[in-house]
Amino acid sequence: MSELVLIKNIIKDQMIGKEVTIKGWVKSTRKKKSFSFIVLNDGSNQSGLQIVADAQIPGYDNATNALTGSSLSITGKVVASQGQGQSLELQASVLELLGPADETFPLQKKATSLEFLRENAHLRSRTNTMAAVMRVRSSLAFATHSFFNARDFLYLHTPIITGSDCEGAGEMFKVTTLDLDHLPRNEEGKVDYKKDYYGKDTGLTVSGQLNAETYACGMGRVYTFGPTFRAENSNTPRHASEFWMIEPEVAFFDLEDVANLAIDYIKHLINHALNNNLEDLTFLQSRYKEDLIASLTKVSNSPVNKITYTQAIDILQKAKVDGHHFDFPVEWGSDLQTEHERFLSEKTFDGPVIVTDYPKAIKSFYMKQNSDGKTVRAMDILVPGVGEIIGGSQREDDYGLLLQRINELGLKKEDYWWYLDLRKYGTVPHSGFGLGFERAIMYITGMQNIRDVIAFPRTPGNAEF
Ligand code: 4AD
Ligand code: MG
Repeated sequence: MSELVLIKNIIKDQMIGKEVTIKGWVKSTRKKKSFSFIVLNDGSNQSGLQIVADAQIPGYDNATNALTGSSLSITGKVVASQGQGQSLELQASVLELLGPADETFPLQKKATSLEFLRENAHLRSRTNTMAAVMRVRSSLAFATHSFFNARDFLYLHTPIITGSDCEGAGEMFKVTTLDLDHLPRNEEGKVDYKKDYYGKDTGLTVSGQLNAETYACGMGRVYTFGPTFRAENSNTPRHASEFWMIEPEVAFFDLEDVANLAIDYIKHLINHALNNNLEDLTFLQSRYKEDLIASLTKVSNSPVNKITYTQAIDILQKAKVDGHHFDFPVEWGSDLQTEHERFLSEKTFDGPVIVTDYPKAIKSFYMKQNSDGKTVRAMDILVPGVGEIIGGSQREDDYGLLLQRINELGLKKEDYWWYLDLRKYGTVPHSGFGLGFERAIMYITGMQNIRDVIAFPRTPGNAEF
């Protein structure tokens, strides 16, 4: 038996002359009189491999009659290809049908819509598009760890189940073992969470930031990379109720330091994809975004623009005067909507832009207040095609000011006692941000819907698979 190898390594190492076994799924078969071509894909690369099989070899009839989606094991010798479109092919000596697929296999050769693939999410790893996106996704996860590891960050695992709503937006999914048909009540008639599993009201985390801050304020630089959950009822192409976030948190960093870290990180992701996933990016470019590689290359080589929220509002108001229509209002104090974010990054700057110093009323309680009394040391990074991919800030490190914000916003001081303690014992300036991993993948692959960059998307009304 020859060695089982991945198709991508046959090509990478140009294994001409070597006997190998490959296993994978049939993309297509072309039968001639005395031989056949099979294209097999094992998921390791975009192109798959062409196999030439003479009619006399063992297993020929079963394997070459197998329809698209069937699985095969093929042994043979790697040879230089005569044909166009590939430099190598496999001259088969043994074919074996592992698992047949019949004509009901949903992903036949003809092009299918992305929507159809979402309905068949259990099979879409077999498609060129999804396989390309998922290879890039895996590669960028690795690049995330290499980026922070090279900068002496501690990789921190923060809890998934928590009692504190980090963003204070009331979007937590509840975690409970109470019998929903017979809820225990307290004297006020409210649900008695003291009888619940944790003895308190808990939910799935919306962000690991508050926990990350405790470790940054003790170990210096940390980052998390984990799933986060938001029960927001946003049915949009860029919201999922379960998504992955990378959250660095750094002691002694101010807003500018952490903005520079964010820029370096985004550029690192882009460069990593360009250097390691070019075949997949080239495919995605041909299908979904014609200037993908050029625009990523440009970002990697250019400085990133920085403006304040107040400047952003000025730009948007001028655009309105010049006749540009926005659905949502543009006035100082209102939050930037996707249409505004995309206008700034696409029309004004034609690339990523950092917006800082937002009004405190539209940002979370933990952000450091500016001396103007109106704004906070917040930053969002906006990119073309997606809008916000990063949200971050310098954190309020003054005990009194933080407590005041908690009270003003009607949050419960008791829920944040340990978070306040950080400001009581050796408080330091510190800053951090969260990158939405799916949004970064959308940006780098050119995909336009978050449902197409995560294996099994969770969105309102949809938890199939
Ligand atoms: O701006 P957000 O809400 O910031 C935080 O959660 C902070 N605690 C992060 C921090 O400072 N450590 O979320 C951060 C990022 C957004 O910029 C966006 O990219 C992504 O998370 N995000 C979502 N991605 C997909 N679906 C959703 N529903 C998302 N909500 C936020
Ligand atoms: Mg945000």
